[in-house]
Amino acid sequence: MTELENELLALQAEVQTAVGAVKDEAGLEECRAKYLGRKGLLPAMMSKLGSVPKEDKPAVGKTVNAVKQQIQAYLDECASRIHQAAEEKAALDISLPARRHHIGHRHPISLVMDSAVTIFRRMGFTVADGPDLENVWDNFDALNAPQDHPSRTPEDTFYFDLDKRDWLDPETMILRTQTSDVQIRTMKAHKPPVRIVCPGRCYRRDTPDATHGMSFHQIEGLYVDENVSLADLKGTLAEFSRQMFGEKTKIRFRPHFFPFTEPSVECDASCIVCGGAGCRVCKGSGWIEIAGAGLVNPAVFANVGYDVDKVSGFAFGFGLERIAMIRYGINDLRLLYDNDVRFLHQF
Ligand code: DAH
Repeated sequence: MTELENELLALQAEVQTAVGAVKDEAGLEECRAKYLGRKGLLPAMMSKLGSVPKEDKPAVGKTVNAVKQQIQAYLDECASRIHQAAEEKAALDISLPARRHHIGHRHPISLVMDSAVTIFRRMGFTVADGPDLENVWDNFDALNAPQDHPSRTPEDTFYFDLDKRDWLDPETMILRTQTSDVQIRTMKAHKPPVRIVCPGRCYRRDTPDATHGMSFHQIEGLYVDENVSLADLKGTLAEFSRQMFGEKTKIRFRPHFFPFTEPSVECDASCIVCGGAGCRVCKGSGWIEIAGAGLVNPAVFANVGYDVDKVSGFAFGFGLERIAMIRYGINDLRLLYDNDVRFLHQF
């Protein structure tokens, strides 16, 4: 080994020791300058390479490079040690201001669902529940939906086990297409009178766009007792609308058809944006459709074993996305499902 190589290795060892004693950034810089700087010890030794005999040059050159790399590595290691120590110290610094915590927000659908439930509870309704995975009988047949109703086809409804069962088989399982199935489940389990609402998720094979999704939320209502009339239904929905959309809100009924109600209506509320004068939101009509409703069809009572001569009732179903969109002025349904915190933070 040449003398220069010995000196280089000694320098390397010296750096290792020196670096171990370094405690801060300034110390590290001092070391770097002392050993690697322009006037540092390593460059000084490297300048001696010129006077090494020719035959030794390749070996000495190798050593020079190796030592240089090692010294650089010692300094880098030291830098990261100092850095980490500084970070740990900062983490423990109790005089630092507290870190900001981001508080979560309730989703607009949950907000609307909760207010709807609260309003109906105040009117004496209790909350009922049903499964998302439903059988065809509870979702369609018991609700008097004819077998050739287009909504029953596998193009419109999510079916399970179609390889084993027919889609008209009452026991075939589906993702429920409406919360009206909970009317059936409730009446099968309880004698009248019943007064329930059921918020929940429904599924339909729609192509998602600004006003459609393949899954959405409804809140269903059912009131069965003796002598329940259309006036009771109207009073209930009018009160709900005033509490949900504002004191001045009016409602109107338009005749419609649902297999499970007779007569059936669609319920509009006066536009909460323009108050009925006509605007972009209500498309100039002054009214916004908010629910389907009607008096329970006696055929449905018969299906659940209720005495059709004794009881009468009303039912209604709201789309919660629609209510959220009206209430918060949201113009695209997809915003509700993108989970963009910049959107969600507004509620
Ligand atoms: N199930 C209906 C739908 O999904 C909504 C509905 C209409 C529910 C009338 C009802 C009702 O309870 O009486 O479009």
